[in-house]
Amino acid sequence: MDKKLAVGNWKMNLLREEARELSGAIVNLLGEDYEDCQVVLVPPYTALDVVGSCISGSNIELGAQNVFGRTMGAFTGEVSAPMLVDAGCRWVIVGHSERRHILGETDEQIREKVSLSVSCGLKTILCVGETEAQREEAVSRSEDALARKSLLFSPIRTQIESALGPLDEKQVSDIVIAYEPVWAIGTGKNATSLEIEEIHQYITELLAEMFPGSGNNVRILYGGSVKTGNIEKIMSVEEVDGVLVGGASLSVDSFFRIIKSVGG
Ligand code: PGA
Repeated sequence: MDKKLAVGNWKMNLLREEARELSGAIVNLLGEDYEDCQVVLVPPYTALDVVGSCISGSNIELGAQNVFGRTMGAFTGEVSAPMLVDAGCRWVIVGHSERRHILGETDEQIREKVSLSVSCGLKTILCVGETEAQREEAVSRSEDALARKSLLFSPIRTQIESALGPLDEKQVSDIVIAYEPVWAIGTGKNATSLEIEEIHQYITELLAEMFPGSGNNVRILYGGSVKTGNIEKIMSVEEVDGVLVGGASLSVDSFFRIIKSVGG
């Protein structure tokens, strides 16, 4: 298994100068040789170049928050996987819940994005997770363990099967899954260790079933209101291979402490 991962998703925040300051401060604090875990910074498109310059020479890698599902052409406003590679990205996030739920991205679009990203050599973080209503419906069937599990796992199974279905065993080695319960993103609500463990175990089993040769090597991150106050607990769940951090990655102090906890 590869190193654990600490991914900072800055979302639609930070102007270029602010992005330069934050990434520079992270490099300074960590040191260029830091390698206890893999750190990935994911700024908005407009700051990819300044962040790329700040982290060059360090072990920190650059990622993008989104990508379009075609390689080139008349798609005004979109950015393709080869363009991301050209801009210095090694990573891309696909299927984030904000894109699924606010921007209406479909499983089909996500499948195209994943396939093209992987074929361009980008390490691809596929986000999956259930909504609050889906979890509540599952919980309401607590007296019937099978029904509860099947309701709870079903959205995650659909998202993963749809996005990774076209990939082969070799391509899946460039995939990382981020389990982000939609109700925990940016809300301050946390999944409990048991809830995280249950879903991560399920995803592990599903990947092993879909890709018997390499599914076991796919890293599975947790995301959703990860903070300095809960990172130790989250990382103590054995199945957690790292974290995808939104709000807390915008402060050098908190992201540095999170990285250190992930590095162990
Ligand atoms: P959050 O965001 O840490 O602010 O909840 C996580 C994410 O959306 O990836």
